[in-house]
Amino acid sequence: EKGGYEHFMLKEIFEQPKSILDTMRGRLLADEGIIKMAGIWDHLERLTNAERIIIIACGTSWHAGLIGEYLIEEFARVPVEVEYASEFRYRNPIISSKDVVIAISQSGETADTMAAIKLAKEKGAFVFGICNVVDSSISRYTDAGAYTHAGPEIGVASTKAFTAQLTILSLIAIKLGNHNGNLGKADFMRLITELEAIPKKVEDVLKTVDEAVKTIAKKFADATNFLYLGRGYNFPAALEGALKLKEISYIHAEGYPAAEMKHGPIALIDENMPIVIIAPKVGHYDKIVSNVQEIKARKGQVIAIINKGDTQVAAMADYIIEIPETSECFSPILASVPLQLLSYYIAVERGANVDQPRNLAKSVTVE
Ligand code: M6R
Repeated sequence: EKGGYEHFMLKEIFEQPKSILDTMRGRLLADEGIIKMAGIWDHLERLTNAERIIIIACGTSWHAGLIGEYLIEEFARVPVEVEYASEFRYRNPIISSKDVVIAISQSGETADTMAAIKLAKEKGAFVFGICNVVDSSISRYTDAGAYTHAGPEIGVASTKAFTAQLTILSLIAIKLGNHNGNLGKADFMRLITELEAIPKKVEDVLKTVDEAVKTIAKKFADATNFLYLGRGYNFPAALEGALKLKEISYIHAEGYPAAEMKHGPIALIDENMPIVIIAPKVGHYDKIVSNVQEIKARKGQVIAIINKGDTQVAAMADYIIEIPETSECFSPILASVPLQLLSYYIAVERGANVDQPRNLAKSVTVE
């Protein structure tokens, strides 16, 4: 049932071209310039008239939520807040019937997320669910929703569910922006054409990065700490990369926005500190180039995720992993794949139980 792969996690990483495509299937009709989503279509006014969208989730789904915030604010210009479900539920949050809550959960069974949804509903908010497991408790309890269609995810470390969540959030943000007029026709068309090309680009990543990632994994399997850095849309991708490493290889890792380095974490950098930096040629690329210079000046070990053909970061980095170009908003999908593989191969090197890491369960149904 692992389809010839040694672990479910590896199988699920390699399934991503298909799981992303399945998540888009029937929804993204790029040739016709249409995004069709029943769950959104039926509640379009409610969503676009929201005074505020609050995204609640835990763990990897919360990281997807952070990227959702960037997407929705950029394209639909609706204010978004992202909260850990566990914090939201215990702090008497301000919430009203003018708010829309988007709850994200792979399993649809996470106790904290469920409790936060109940609270939001009590206060009159409209709750939209993004779940992967069909007919799960959260998918049944929410007012409306959209499934991710990533297929069953068995490995405790979430991989294909994450990229499917990013796909759905992209579709929602672009759809809302198109509907409320904040996203012009030309930009809308450009984005949906880009998004449609993502499954093929993920396939290219999977075909080309394996050797580079394995070499890096061998080199750093005994590291005790890692820093993960990214800017803009790739800041949450850095958080997610660090979480993957912590979960399955038990190496302490922290994700940071690259610009925050100078406010503290830079003190940690010496020749023993591996730093994964997500540096595609998008957004504030020049700023990332200076971050890499700052790290190299302190002899940190730089593992850079760059675009094919990049020379500036490539010239300074100790190790590079190349991914294809895409719009900034979709770049976390491509950058996440080598980060998943890196945590996987490091865990394998260390002999860890990849699919069943210690102390963790696939769905956290305790509070
Ligand atoms: O099923 P959910 O998406 O609600 O789960 C949330 C977290 O428990 C989950 O993402 C957890 O952080 C994963 N093990 C991450 O790989």
